[in-house]
Amino acid sequence: MEFIWGAATSAYQIEGAASEDGRGASIWDRFCRLSGTIADGSSGQVACDHYHRFREDIALMKQLGLQAYRFSIAWPRVMPDGVGRVNQRGLDFYRRLVDELRAAGIRPFATLYHWDLPDALQDRWGGWMGRDTAHAFADYANVVSQALAGGVDAWITLNEPWVSSWLGYGWGSHPPGYRNLDLGMQAAHHLLLAHGLAASALRANAPHSEVGITLNFSPIQSASDDPMDVQAARAADININGSFLGPLFGVGYDDLVLQPLSHKLLRVHEDDMRIVREPIDFLGVNYYTRFLLRHRPAGTNPFGEYVDVPGAARTTMGWEVFPDGLYDTLKRVNEMQPGIKMYVTENGAAFADAVAPDGGVHDDERIAYLEQHIAQVRRAIDDGMHIAGYFVWSLLDNFEWTEGYRPRFGIVYVDFETRRRTVKDSGYWYANLIRSASRRREALP
Ligand code: FCB
Repeated sequence: MEFIWGAATSAYQIEGAASEDGRGASIWDRFCRLSGTIADGSSGQVACDHYHRFREDIALMKQLGLQAYRFSIAWPRVMPDGVGRVNQRGLDFYRRLVDELRAAGIRPFATLYHWDLPDALQDRWGGWMGRDTAHAFADYANVVSQALAGGVDAWITLNEPWVSSWLGYGWGSHPPGYRNLDLGMQAAHHLLLAHGLAASALRANAPHSEVGITLNFSPIQSASDDPMDVQAARAADININGSFLGPLFGVGYDDLVLQPLSHKLLRVHEDDMRIVREPIDFLGVNYYTRFLLRHRPAGTNPFGEYVDVPGAARTTMGWEVFPDGLYDTLKRVNEMQPGIKMYVTENGAAFADAVAPDGGVHDDERIAYLEQHIAQVRRAIDDGMHIAGYFVWSLLDNFEWTEGYRPRFGIVYVDFETRRRTVKDSGYWYANLIRSASRRREALP
């Protein structure tokens, strides 16, 4: 069985060139301008300037021996108003990117939606609150997959729709910033509908590519034996880890997902659940950490608050290093859909990296993190699960959403003054791992 090693990024986090070549605004452009939304007051306006430096970045990928590169396409770059008019210059950028990747022998894995909704659709239909946005997404998927036909090995419709829906509409910590669980659920449903509609467009236009979706997983455990904590953790766990799997696998929404809602706003049309369960070739799994939850009536998180595990190793994000959670997640998905093909489409860690006087970036903690997590992937494979590849998050240090530029997730360091790239020790380590795995002619990690 073949195993693919890659790295991942997303458009808004690395591209920059936010106002160039006809790109329209996204909801993140607007959100970043509001005061107090981004920890360091920054935005993705310039980011890593990948839009202008993509050739240099592909050369780095080649140097590292990456076999695949997962990137995302910015919907507002391709369709500045979200619907209708297609911006050829935007499409051309992705065509060049894909062609250069292929020329370098790197397989393109393209995500169609990594959170950067065209702002025009937020105004027009309330973003994902509106059913029309799902249909607009299918049109966009159609345009992109026609333009890039034959170039992309795997399509990922959505990245972490839980974040777009629940954090954006339920908790309010991401754009558009609503705080209403019913809206979160409605947005989640429309995102799933968008996925199903897009998946069938992708199948038609790119019959030789794989089609899948990427979800985020974080096991949520109770911080104590208190029944209130136990119950809150259960509700939060099913919300994060269960909102999307049921519908995708054809068993509908879990009652526990719907329980905290008033239901008033959940509009599901008769045929929706059939569209949503459009068969996928793989599930993309993003995993970083687990959370311990304590019940608490108020706060941003409607389910409670996360508490620290005493003495645990943590990253710059404050996230506990908990490798077993990756195995547990893969197992949980596999139990629900035995034999399903999975890619780990994101896994990685942020640490306070700096360029040392010797010119290198010595990020031993990241190497340890990656090593421990890859060992869990191996464990899952040994147990017979179908894991087809691993993508480290991220290729480059980048704009980490509401946290700004402080958390550095890259295996390549980016100096945000000069945009100069420096391969970190973890990058060299990863290159070695890929090389020795291929030299042993072993398919598996
Ligand atoms: C994931 C996102 C990705 C990045 C990592 C750290 O939730 O998909 O863009 O921000 O977290």
